[in-house]
Amino acid sequence: MSTPFEPNEEQPLLQAEGLTHYYGRRLGCRGIDLELHEGEVLAIVGESGSGKSTLLKLLSTELPPTSGQVSYRMRDGAMRDLATLSEAERRLLLRTDWGFVRQHAEEGLRMTVSAGGNVGERLMAVGWRHFGEIRDEAGDWLDRVEIARTRMDDDPRTFSGGMRQRLQIARNLVTRPRLVFMDEPTGGLDVSVQARLLDLIRSLVAEFGLAAVIVTHDLSVARLLSHRIMVMKEGEVIEAGLTDQVLDDPHAPYTQLLVSSVLAA
Ligand SMILES: Nc1ncnc2c1ncn2[C@@H]1O[C@H](COP(=O)(O)OP(=O)(O)OP(=O)(O)O)[C@@H](O)[C@H]1O
Ligand SMILES: [Mg+2]
Repeated sequence: MSTPFEPNEEQPLLQAEGLTHYYGRRLGCRGIDLELHEGEVLAIVGESGSGKSTLLKLLSTELPPTSGQVSYRMRDGAMRDLATLSEAERRLLLRTDWGFVRQHAEEGLRMTVSAGGNVGERLMAVGWRHFGEIRDEAGDWLDRVEIARTRMDDDPRTFSGGMRQRLQIARNLVTRPRLVFMDEPTGGLDVSVQARLLDLIRSLVAEFGLAAVIVTHDLSVARLLSHRIMVMKEGEVIEAGLTDQVLDDPHAPYTQLLVSSVLAA
């Protein structure tokens, strides 16, 4: 993303130190340090098995770290070590402050609930009670993600892959989260569908000033969406910096290889 990012807050929104996870004896990722500020988009790139999804799961408390810690600035301004949150506090964060867009929409949607219900459910979780208002807001969000309101009562099983992904985005953003985690949000879609979805993600992220951590193995996705980039290999970060700088002038030999293989493709 070519617009420079200037944090307006001293303190990061999300901070990780020495984040490490082993699956038994197999390394997931090791020694990861990062900071993410409000409104900032960080891309995590690297080959298959490099630890991207593991890192995302650690950041979002889906996996407990083997060592290291993740802190998050709560709405009251207090920086909290996520490992010390009560289960109720953690769930509240997941429902309100955070979104999680999965690569496979089936994992992020309730497939047997209507499209409107998928969006409305998140509103009810944050205290909306009035049926008509919930339906109106859900309808507005379907408009935003370019799903016809006439599909409101259909369930996502009847949707195409791209529509499901857009519905997932509506479901996640309707509660105006501050931070969204995305794991390969455009993976597995046709190139033309990907391009539209990327445009949509880019405009919503900008409109709401969202902070996001986006996992992708596609450098063009990172280029389009992110301010900063981290390159992973074998569970470790081998290069990090401003996206345009890293992609235009990669230092690590592995990043050079990644960038040149994209150019050659
Ligand atoms: N549930 C699991 N049990 C055991 N090992 C796992 C598990 N999940 C991941 N791993 C291992 O951890 C390492 C990192 O995997 P991870 O899924 O984080 O990679 P990734 O970068 O997301 O890959 P991909 O691009 O294919 O999604 C790999 O060696 C993988 O085999
Ligand atoms: Mg993965």
